[in-house]
Amino acid sequence: MLLPASPAAIRRAAAALRRGEPVAFPTETVYGLGASALDPEAVRKVFAAKGRPDDNPLIVHVTGLPMLRGLVRSLPPAARALAERFWPGPLTLVLPKTRAVPGVVTAGLPTVAVRVPDHPVALALIEAAAVPVAAPSANRSGRPSPTRAAHVAADFPGLLVLDGGAARHGLESTVVSLGDPPRVLRLGAIPVEELRAVLPGLVVATKARARAESPGMRHRHYAPTRPLVLFRRSRAAALREALAADPKALLLCADADAPLFPGRRPVRLGATPAEIAHGLFDALRTERRGSVLLAYALPRRGLLRAVMDRLERAATRVV
Ligand code: TXA
Ligand code: MG
Repeated sequence: MLLPASPAAIRRAAAALRRGEPVAFPTETVYGLGASALDPEAVRKVFAAKGRPDDNPLIVHVTGLPMLRGLVRSLPPAARALAERFWPGPLTLVLPKTRAVPGVVTAGLPTVAVRVPDHPVALALIEAAAVPVAAPSANRSGRPSPTRAAHVAADFPGLLVLDGGAARHGLESTVVSLGDPPRVLRLGAIPVEELRAVLPGLVVATKARARAESPGMRHRHYAPTRPLVLFRRSRAAALREALAADPKALLLCADADAPLFPGRRPVRLGATPAEIAHGLFDALRTERRGSVLLAYALPRRGLLRAVMDRLERAATRVV
């Protein structure tokens, strides 16, 4: 059930959270499927509804640093510096957890992932429920993350969804663990370059390391409506051949590149990196034209580095 996110609807959703019922809500990144992080039964309902493997931990959403007290054992100086600069915002920090955080939330890990969402509805909901809210992206496991309330309703008919319009970033938060060195476990809406301005020693975890430390990185993700073939930069000729060979093949491209493919009516993802990031999941989730989707590698800088990560994880084949 979609409800415009009025104060009354937020109160209703907060009451549902307090009764142990999951609800979906908008954040600045993507929609989340929330449950009280202190209620193991409610959190189990989120895993069950998503069909999420139980080894994949959830992010706990709070309104600010005061709400973290009691949930994390310590806040290292690097974490504090990042939090001060980027919260509220699309940065998730992995910190040592206390016993107050049920094991089901963290899939048995000794750490908990936390963030302060930069969205008035998300903040008002957590405030009204007065509990930290564990929330994965509000999609069935393996599907692209929902950037609109209608995407959530498509995956979970009957669920209470607070409709806050299209998510601003359309790409999930960047996940950082604060080991030595600090590592990006999942690329996301805050580019690595911006985080390095605060934490120069930050590295991007290798794929193997990210899979070991962040179980979500092991699982198949972002399955599009059609098979997706991703072409490396060096394979431009192969991309042209694939397009020429299949008139039903549908190209996903940056606006600036559309003129390179005359007569093809490609899916134009956007002009800027922010627009491309914003348009990607929507296209993967809703595009019904074409028999196969073709995409090509974008420069791995800034936000586009995270876009490339999602394209690689969505791709049925990389050539
Ligand atoms: O933007 C976002 O992060 C959205 C909104 C709703 O906040 N949430 C989201 O959640 O994308 P989810 O569950 O789809 O992705 C959470 C990611 C997974 O890759 C998971 O493995 C990782 O965070 N994660 C959670 N807890 C962790 C922990 N204790 N250690 C390492 N990785 C963790
Ligand atoms: Mg997800």
